[in-house]
Amino acid sequence: MSLPNGPRNPNFVLTLQWIAKPLEVLEELDQKYGDPFAIAGSNFATVFFSNPQAIQELLTANPDLFDCGLGNKTLQPILGDHSLILLDNERHQRQRRLLTPPFHGERLRTYGKTICDITEHVMSQWTVGESFFVRSYMQEISLRVILHTVFGLHEGQRFEQLRHLLSSLLDSIGSPLSSSLLYFQKLQRDLGPWSPWGRFLRLRQQIDQLLYAEIQQRREQFNSSGTDILSLLLAARDELGQPMTDVELRDELMTMLFAGHETTASALAWALYWIEQLPEVRDKLLKELKSLDDSDPSAAAKLPYLAAVCSETLRIYPIAITAFARVLKSPFQLMGYQFEPGTQLVPCIYLLHQRPDLFPEPKRFKPERFLERQFSPYEYLPFGGSNRRCIGMAFALFEMKLVLATILRRNQLALTNRRQIKPVRRGVTAAPPSWMQMTVVSQQKSAPTSSAALIR
Ligand code: HEM
Repeated sequence: MSLPNGPRNPNFVLTLQWIAKPLEVLEELDQKYGDPFAIAGSNFATVFFSNPQAIQELLTANPDLFDCGLGNKTLQPILGDHSLILLDNERHQRQRRLLTPPFHGERLRTYGKTICDITEHVMSQWTVGESFFVRSYMQEISLRVILHTVFGLHEGQRFEQLRHLLSSLLDSIGSPLSSSLLYFQKLQRDLGPWSPWGRFLRLRQQIDQLLYAEIQQRREQFNSSGTDILSLLLAARDELGQPMTDVELRDELMTMLFAGHETTASALAWALYWIEQLPEVRDKLLKELKSLDDSDPSAAAKLPYLAAVCSETLRIYPIAITAFARVLKSPFQLMGYQFEPGTQLVPCIYLLHQRPDLFPEPKRFKPERFLERQFSPYEYLPFGGSNRRCIGMAFALFEMKLVLATILRRNQLALTNRRQIKPVRRGVTAAPPSWMQMTVVSQQKSAPTSSAALIR
């Protein structure tokens, strides 16, 4: 059977619209063509699915039928060829086995105090009566947290340089306009330090120098009992007993830093937006937070209403609009269609999360829906699924809950401008706009703890 309905040989305008307003484009195509729809070019087709049955079949099929790394080539200039996100097959599985444990289980609890201390430190820059840009502060928190997890430290000159350069690099491809650099290879031309691609390349080179310097130093002073990600990667050996090369290490470090902070920062900024936009949500949350035990920094991770607020935040505006494209290696049947090799099959997270049969009144922020029923991993998938499911899922949710609890217990915030805010493209994700501001209405200062004092 032929492809599902949808635009054929789409013109440049659709690509530009997709870059500028991805959610609107998905909604329009869904309304016009229904589920699934296919965008077919001269070389290959991309098919978007937004019903749980099809997504279940796709995500439970033998993963050997698909390549995913191939579909993520847009990220190659940032992450490099050896990134987990760009790998497939055996190498992908091996790197995943290595990188998953530090983001799970008991290890999470060891990050609890650091996450709370970092949040306290960043919040201490806010002044009562003044406004702040929410996303940039959330980004400072999540970047400090992931740097700590990856390198095991959160201070020092190299750390500060990395923090600034990484933020600048992501800003250089963050806006809808500059993110076109990733989508159109023809724009990737170095026309000097002031040209967009020239600036990107120079920032990347500076970051690489810092990463290679850190790798070199850590190789020389190797500590086999280190629990940070770089220590684990340095200790890893392949089936021939060979360690990872410097380039492989660089790409994997960059992957964790890149995938592990902007996503969480955007989710945190959205959560604060909804909490401050909806007084009834805020009141319920504050009531729940009152029960927290101060002696356990990780206690917030167990609060049910806070968990529901985080789930609803990631439902209504998922940070990743779609999961990775599954690029077919062999013919595959789904929903009565026979898809040919090369076809990209995409679980569309945004459209799935907007289905009124699963989420009645989908445009309303209602955390209660997550307390009233459980959703299957094919009905709700902010972190994707199958062998590519986000390895940072547990970590991101843990971080979100602790950061929100720390902020809300100490601050009364208000949206500086109460108008409705819509997501904008941020690189390959959708995020709240950088201009979204909040005002600190009142603040309860905390006594600095020993480790908060260390974070400069
Ligand atoms: C709210 C925060 C986050 C969201 C919404 C998110 C979402 C996603 C999604 C949708 C995918 C694709 C999964 C698929 O196609 O099935 C993914 C993959 C990935 N995420 Fe996250 N993520 C978040 C935080 C993190 C964090 C904190 C890390 C830190 C390690 C991380 C690392 C990764 C990696 C390495 C992959 C690629 C996995 C693979 O290819 O096997 N993410 N994420």
